[in-house]
Amino acid sequence: MPQYSISPTGERFQLPGTEDYSIEFERLKRLALEQRELGREIVVVMGLGFVGAVMAAVVADTENKEGKPTKFVIGMQRNATAQLPELLEAPLLNRGISTVSSEDPEVSSIINRCANEKKTLTATYTYDALKLGDVIVVDVQCDYLKESLGNVREGRADMAALEESLEIIGQNIDPHALVLIETTVAPGTTEQVAYPIIKKMFRKRGLRNDPLVAHSFERVMPGENYVSSIRDFWRVCSGVNEEATRRVVKFLNEVINTEKFPLTVLDRPIESETAKIVENSFRATLLAFLDEWSLFSERNGVDLLKVIQAIKVRPTHSNIIFPGPGIGGYCLPKDGGLGLWAYRHIHGFEDDIFKITPLAININDTRSLHVAQLTRDALRNMGRPIASAEILVLGASYREDVGDTRYSGSELIVRRLTEMGAELRVHDPYVLHWWEFEKQDEYPASSQSLKRFFRGQEKLKDLRVEQNLEKALHGIDSILFAVRHKHYLDLHPDEVVRNAGGPLAVIDCFGILDDAKIKRYFELGCEVKGLGRGHVKRIKDQVRAEREQPKKPPKG
Ligand SMILES: NC(=O)c1ccc[n+]([C@@H]2O[C@H](COP(=O)([O-])OP(=O)(O)OC[C@H]3O[C@@H](n4cnc5c(N)ncnc54)[C@H](O)[C@@H]3O)[C@@H](O)[C@H]2O)c1
Repeated sequence: MPQYSISPTGERFQLPGTEDYSIEFERLKRLALEQRELGREIVVVMGLGFVGAVMAAVVADTENKEGKPTKFVIGMQRNATAQLPELLEAPLLNRGISTVSSEDPEVSSIINRCANEKKTLTATYTYDALKLGDVIVVDVQCDYLKESLGNVREGRADMAALEESLEIIGQNIDPHALVLIETTVAPGTTEQVAYPIIKKMFRKRGLRNDPLVAHSFERVMPGENYVSSIRDFWRVCSGVNEEATRRVVKFLNEVINTEKFPLTVLDRPIESETAKIVENSFRATLLAFLDEWSLFSERNGVDLLKVIQAIKVRPTHSNIIFPGPGIGGYCLPKDGGLGLWAYRHIHGFEDDIFKITPLAININDTRSLHVAQLTRDALRNMGRPIASAEILVLGASYREDVGDTRYSGSELIVRRLTEMGAELRVHDPYVLHWWEFEKQDEYPASSQSLKRFFRGQEKLKDLRVEQNLEKALHGIDSILFAVRHKHYLDLHPDEVVRNAGGPLAVIDCFGILDDAKIKRYFELGCEVKGLGRGHVKRIKDQVRAEREQPKKPPKG
């Protein structure tokens, strides 16, 4: 029986059968031969997710001073049997279509240009592709699995996909190929996990070579400057030996705009790996630290948004950021955990030196639950119970103007409010399928869904992302501004209330509403609350006072 993978648009892709693999390898060998004759280096990018798909295109777009392409890229995506989005990367990329949805128009144009016009990019599902690469770029995931909600210490690094990839690499690559690990890993992984795995595989193949392994982490920001955040941004790198370092520096100088954004070369890969973890733990800590000030603001009539804007003007404090409803995304919730885990399980220390990093992650992981409390209270003020209230969440992704839903604050908001008996709807212009719900029994992996921390979650597998905002608004009791997508910034209160069919509870989770809008919602009979926005009470009192003021009799 042929197996299919179905794209979000409903198109069916047949999964390859055993005989297809050798035909596919022949195709790649032919292509590689042609490309080498053109003087191009063959680069295999392993893992075509949010990072790999765009990195593959950036490498494929590389040109020399005469404007001639210098690299041919084979994107390699593992094949699985479940109908999950990852299966579609290879066939869609081969058509020049991006599977990552983003506000950055360069994502589609660079993929289309390299796949269809320059013909420097192809994608495949066969590991045999690795045999052809001069450089192998590893962009597979390395997860951190948490056993409980709000306690990162109870968890472990999940190196399975990475270790499997490294074994396959060791079994297949040319012994002189450079393996560049871009995955964010537990510090120590390149030298103490990757290098030994590949070396062991080399020995099994009778090869005496020292594997050339290097690390250089990604700082990609999916969003408006997705492509540029890979190509035009500072990189840090390091190799396991002199030759690996020389090769990684050469490669990055060729594919990244290092003239404007110079490379930092560190002595050892553990330093590059630690730089990534510290960088993200720093940001997670900055955000977590504001959670307590957010509560302080709510309880004392302070608008945290304005406080932050006031502080930001001071150049030394310009990176202070208003924390949204939970600090999601793939990286910030897990990276500090990889550091804690490495200290014990790679480096063998028993003591507990980490205080701030785990605390920050725990605070961030549970911040969104407070949104459910605000919603409950706002509805209660309107005399409506939360149970069976119709609630619309605006935004499913973890940050503005991207379609990435991983560990988004919105997921926890939906789960908690469902547990409290509410009926949830969601709108997101960037997300067609919210796999965390639709496939909650198998995505991100079996028994890894956040579903396990809440009760009454079964019905959420029927949750569908509404694309028509007007329809989504119809008849709701409450609206939650959860993500700063540009589509929501100018939504007018009159339009919201009209489409909802009457006054509703409005919850601003991300400093989206200005004072004029908050005032208008109150004037329309709504209740408004917001994370860190204690001043709404003042606006409410002002509206009430204006309403109650006796009308002055006309003069004369
Ligand atoms: N997403 C971001 O914004 C971001 C930013 C900076 C760094 N990173 C880091 O980059 C790495 C990759 O992140 P991502 O967001 O692209 O993850 P992802 O889950 O979107 O992509 C990983 C891909 O690798 C594939 N894969 C796994 N094992 C494979 C194998 N054996 N062969 C071929 N493919 C395989 C998976 O199927 C998946 O498609 C992570 O370490 C992440 O922490 C991500």
